[in-house]
Amino acid sequence: MKKINRIGVLTGGGDCPGLNAVIRAVTKAAIIEYGLEVVGFQDGFKGMVECSYRMLDLKAVSGIGHTGGTILGSSNRDNPFNFHRIVDGQSQYFDESDRAIANLNKLGVDALIVIGGDGSLHIADQFYRKGVNLVAVPKTIDNDLSATDVTFGFNTAVNTASEALDRLHTTAESHHRVMILEVMGRYAGWISLYAGISGGADVILIPEIPYKLECIINKIHQRYEQNKKFSIIVIAEGALPAGGEMVVQRLVPTSHDPIRLGGIGNKLAQEIEDSSEIETRVTVLGHLQRGGMPIPYDRIISSRYGVAAVHAVMNEKFGHMVSLRGEKVETVPIVDAIKELKKVDPQGDLVRTARALGITFGDR
Ligand code: F6P
Repeated sequence: MKKINRIGVLTGGGDCPGLNAVIRAVTKAAIIEYGLEVVGFQDGFKGMVECSYRMLDLKAVSGIGHTGGTILGSSNRDNPFNFHRIVDGQSQYFDESDRAIANLNKLGVDALIVIGGDGSLHIADQFYRKGVNLVAVPKTIDNDLSATDVTFGFNTAVNTASEALDRLHTTAESHHRVMILEVMGRYAGWISLYAGISGGADVILIPEIPYKLECIINKIHQRYEQNKKFSIIVIAEGALPAGGEMVVQRLVPTSHDPIRLGGIGNKLAQEIEDSSEIETRVTVLGHLQRGGMPIPYDRIISSRYGVAAVHAVMNEKFGHMVSLRGEKVETVPIVDAIKELKKVDPQGDLVRTARALGITFGDR
């Protein structure tokens, strides 16, 4: 095995609080512990294809651990194995993976650290199978990656959503309204569930438990009868009625997962108003969940993941992802992290806890 002197790092997919803390930890650990050089690719995998990069030294990562976004830029639409270009005014797709690997070789990058969620890790796994020495770090506010207890960024998103619920409570109560908060999470209900429990929601709607409108209306009426003339509903963007479908907001054809969800909150609000005549308002929290400073938990887990990823590279744990298991950061094969999305267990402890608190999931 060739000695590792220079590593690459990139941030792929949607941005997420804690990315800079990982970049900082990777760079520091690589330089301080092993005397390596670090190349940061710009805008995710696009930077690998187009050989757009910057060298990262201690100065470049100084003072970024608490900041949001990514100093390297990111993209959730550029897949080197299906790379979009406009040729003669026409959209065309090319396999640019060999070109990306040639750029790694040209730059003398001996190993690559990919910081990404489900889509980026699928791409990372394909590169690993093509012979790239690669280690992954689990990123996503959705917390939907298997084989790790938590992805970094999730807890900051929950914090933001929970604070939004606290704020919505006051208007709900003052105006005797139903207030709906639509949160992100793609096909998993983790943000909705965690924020709903911590923010005191009356109704939590998640993709894993399809809802019935009449159950939600019953809950609202029940509260009215108890002289609680307002209700708070938190709904995951992927939530859906029993027998119905998820609401797709847009399609991004160049993306690894082209579907962008959104709009279920407004649909539900209309249905509640139509069948109960109770004034209902919607807040779509959107990208506020991805933005801003990571909370201390995410700064710490990001730092641990970044350092562990460098150790994994030096221990030649290629094709692996760093992962939190209980108190320990370990490595697991990337394939185990991506073979199925980690979803909320409808029978699990968290759902049962919520039910015991009187929260309804709209299913009964
Ligand atoms: O995966 C992170 C995420 O924020 C999802 O929760 C959401 O569905 C999606 O990305 C939104 O993507 P975009 O920024 O392309 O709208």
